[in-house]
Amino acid sequence: MSKSLQAIRGMNDILPEQTPLWRYFEGTVAGLLDNYGYRQIRMPIVEFTELFKRSIGEVTDIVEKEMYTFADRNGDSLTLRPEGTAACVRAVLEHGITGGGQVQKLWYIGPMFRHERPQKGRYRQFHQIGVEVFNLDGPDIDAELIVLTWRLWGQLGIRDAVKLELNSLGSSEARGRYRDALVEFLSARLDLLDEDSQRRLKTNPLRILDSKSPDTQALLADAPKMADYLDEESRVHFEGLKARLDAAGIPYVINPKLVRGLDYYSKTVFEWITDKLGAQGTVCAGGRYDGLVEQMGGKPTTGVGFAMGIERLILLLETLEQIPESIARQIDVYLCAFGEQAELAGLALTERLRDQLPGLRLQVNAGAGSFKSQFKKADKSGALYALILGDDELAQQVVGFKPLRGQGEQQNIAFDALAEHLAACVVQG
Ligand code: HAM
Repeated sequence: MSKSLQAIRGMNDILPEQTPLWRYFEGTVAGLLDNYGYRQIRMPIVEFTELFKRSIGEVTDIVEKEMYTFADRNGDSLTLRPEGTAACVRAVLEHGITGGGQVQKLWYIGPMFRHERPQKGRYRQFHQIGVEVFNLDGPDIDAELIVLTWRLWGQLGIRDAVKLELNSLGSSEARGRYRDALVEFLSARLDLLDEDSQRRLKTNPLRILDSKSPDTQALLADAPKMADYLDEESRVHFEGLKARLDAAGIPYVINPKLVRGLDYYSKTVFEWITDKLGAQGTVCAGGRYDGLVEQMGGKPTTGVGFAMGIERLILLLETLEQIPESIARQIDVYLCAFGEQAELAGLALTERLRDQLPGLRLQVNAGAGSFKSQFKKADKSGALYALILGDDELAQQVVGFKPLRGQGEQQNIAFDALAEHLAACVVQG
């Protein structure tokens, strides 16, 4: 027997039972971003590998071991995007839309790909909604990004389950000075470091700060602190951000060890974390990347943004049972028609209803069937009402209007009065 075909591990189908929640989530975020004046951008899923190496950093986990990289038929090295910031920067540069200090407030949505070890909340194809802002360099815009996510958590009913962690990485010079001090401190204690951290000491020493090893963490208690190395401009910027979050009443925790896994950040970094999902608790993360555009060949252009993991937020909505009832019902009315004449009349009638009531969610029975089987399907569809059309009804130019969820008795409604009747009990109701 041939091996059955399966999806790739860590790449999931999102089944029809799940898509209403996804669409609710995506629609809520899109509506919120519209209201704050952000505009959507759509980038390709595949880019030249070089783009990610140059932006995310050669010695990050993503670039070293997680990218889906392949040679295309021309021999070019291409990569399935592991995140959206790099491609967004490439796109704004390529189209010159941040030139001359033009402000851009952009957002995107779509699949990202990382060859990580799959587990709950961590997948190889996952989805992000990301936001990137260019040419606004003050803490006011950092605060706006956080404020709007806070509003989103409120709209979704998950505010109590998420916590904001903040840090400032300073300018690249300040970070360089801190990195040197950290390397000096840890080099003198090399034997006490876990193996991974020993390797990172040479490649990406700041990542040692979020080592999972308790011994390494104990050692770090006495290590130099990033806050003591912050340059004045970054310090003032960070104070400005904190003042705004205080004014907006948004609680946060300063985490001096928050460094993020991508190299492009400077100044503000932040993560929204939940303890409701186990190990993969970061639902949204981002920060400022003032040097990135220039590093990729553009004129100096500041940037700040974040991305949220859709799968994790969907899991959180499910865990907290914050699923609006309205999204469960997808059909309002189900038409059952018995006999060929009734089917023909039913088609004409329902198409007229769709013209008259564009918001009506109306399913027409397909595949004929007995009374019993059509009612069963009507009930299973989740519809509030069944419309019944047989030879008797047709002769009288009426339909049987049958409540399926116990809201009253069945009655006959004249064809001509049906739109008005449905408008009253379904569309507005
Ligand atoms: P990131 O921290 O790598 O940042 O990813 C952002 C979010 O995507 C994470 O907090 C998480 O919710 C979700 N995520 C990441 N990897 C996975 C995975 N394997 N499975 C499921 N969800 C995942 C970035 O990607 C930056 N581009 C964010 C940013 C935008 N910074 C500035 N602008």
